[in-house]
Amino acid sequence: MAEARVPALFIATKNAGKLVEFGELLAAYGVATRRYERYADVAEGERSYAENAGLKARALRTQLVADGIVGDVLADDSGLEIEALAGRPGVVSARYGGPDVSWSQRRALLVAELDATGDAARRAAFVCALHLVAADGRERTAWGRCEGRLVSIERGNGGFSYDAIFVPEGELVTFAEMSGVQKNETSHRAQALRALFGTAASESRQNRVSSFGGGT
Ligand code: IMP
Repeated sequence: MAEARVPALFIATKNAGKLVEFGELLAAYGVATRRYERYADVAEGERSYAENAGLKARALRTQLVADGIVGDVLADDSGLEIEALAGRPGVVSARYGGPDVSWSQRRALLVAELDATGDAARRAAFVCALHLVAADGRERTAWGRCEGRLVSIERGNGGFSYDAIFVPEGELVTFAEMSGVQKNETSHRAQALRALFGTAASESRQNRVSSFGGGT
């Protein structure tokens, strides 16, 4: 299949933290991120990350087409899965504790629920599904997973959402204590992007991003 260079991707998200991360991650592939101000978030389901990522990407593409704009669209759906809670909150991580609680309250509620299980290992994983809809309508999904554990007291000022309570495997610091560069080495989104496009150009000079060519 002939490769088409992807110079820029529209990102289907209103989450400022994710947008920053996508900007940094995709820069390593020589790809710019485009934000569509009028993007309206879709109602997400509770079944799977991949289904939700597909909903978001197709919704933005529909809006772009209606506005006469041609472009490739990328969406992610992600969540935090805690082993002692049988994988919860998972696909509904953004809404854990209800829609009206603050992020610090949400983190505290989740830590309290985990503490109550008495689980000493505190194993957890961030999971991400990415869905790409190319300008010509072709679609592709890829997944990433970052194993780690939850700490009981939040640490760090960087990142967003659950970053301050998550320590990736093999590390001593939380995602919120890391620089963006450090988080992007191991994060679930970084791994899903590698699955979608191959190794970043900054990691391997031979590689380049293509819509559906898988990178190299
Ligand atoms: P989504 O925007 O519907 O995909 O919700 C994803 C939710 O998962 C976010 O709001 C966070 O709760 C959580 N999440 C996903 N990725 C991360 C991350 O990298 N750091 C912290 N929390 C994350």
